[in-house]
Amino acid sequence: MIFDRNEHKQVVALLGAGSMGTAIVRRIGAGKKILLGDISEETLQRVCEDFRRCGYDAETMQVNALQKESVEAFARKAAELGPVMYFIGTAGASPNQANPEHIVDLDMVGTGYAVDAFGEVMAAGGAGLIISSQAAYMYPIPNDIELQLVQTPTAKLKEVKFIQEVAMQNSGFAYMIAKRLNHLQAQRAAATSWRKRHARINTISPGVVVTPLAYDEFNANGEGYQNMIDASASRRTGTSDEIAEAAVFLLGEHAQFITGTDLLIDGGVIASIRTGQFQLQG
Ligand SMILES: NC(=O)c1ccc[n+]([C@@H]2O[C@H](COP(=O)([O-])OP(=O)(O)OC[C@H]3O[C@@H](n4cnc5c(N)ncnc54)[C@H](O)[C@@H]3O)[C@@H](O)[C@H]2O)c1
Repeated sequence: MIFDRNEHKQVVALLGAGSMGTAIVRRIGAGKKILLGDISEETLQRVCEDFRRCGYDAETMQVNALQKESVEAFARKAAELGPVMYFIGTAGASPNQANPEHIVDLDMVGTGYAVDAFGEVMAAGGAGLIISSQAAYMYPIPNDIELQLVQTPTAKLKEVKFIQEVAMQNSGFAYMIAKRLNHLQAQRAAATSWRKRHARINTISPGVVVTPLAYDEFNANGEGYQNMIDASASRRTGTSDEIAEAAVFLLGEHAQFITGTDLLIDGGVIASIRTGQFQLQG
């Protein structure tokens, strides 16, 4: 049975075929060609099968977001499939999944590679979204260092003294800095490479969203997360579907004046920290 005979479809590329990414693509992928990228072949096969069974036109490519060449090949493949209208970047590791250097390499540098590579292939009118984190709001990087970082090419980020020091500290700190860098990477792209292609790019910074990645955090620091959630205005965790609803807006036609910005969706955690209702430990 052939579900869709249309050719020349617009392309949706997802790097990191996990919970949030697939929830987003499910909402925007109907009638489009979906290219799923992930390091895990097993994840790719499972997710692709799910999409196909639900009537989506999906295919996969194994990608290692740590490797520039691999990410560039993914972007080229997306462009070969048709006009790339959407790019969603979610590949990442959380503090309890990886050491600080890996977090710098994946969440920071790897995301930079993806933003750069898709900045070469996006179709005019297209839109991108990077999943950052509420952690981006937890440590203010001094302005002069932020300016230096936003002006540093992705491949040279690890030559910056500040980043070298971050990679030697703990994973939680590396995660905060890496996720803040995602905001800066989207801002830079919005103002330069993506702008040139008449494409928009934004970030979403989710709070605690129950996914396999979040379970690794709960298992390592359940009490800390419980206290954070309890002190927040919403008093609950979030779901991938709630993040995806906001993603649909940011990627869609009603958000055409929105580029280079971040949307914090955290149930009020950062508000409780900023107002002294909750103190971060460590
Ligand atoms: N779940 C949360 O509470 C939460 C909160 C804030 C931010 N985030 C961020 O959201 C993003 C998505 O997280 P999620 O909760 O959907 O997790 P997830 O584990 O479901 O998805 C992450 C995906 O990234 C893939 N990945 C890991 N390393 C990779 C690599 N080197 N190359 C390619 N793919 C790779 C994994 O295989 C996985 O499929 C992550 O960047 C995470 O840091 C998550």
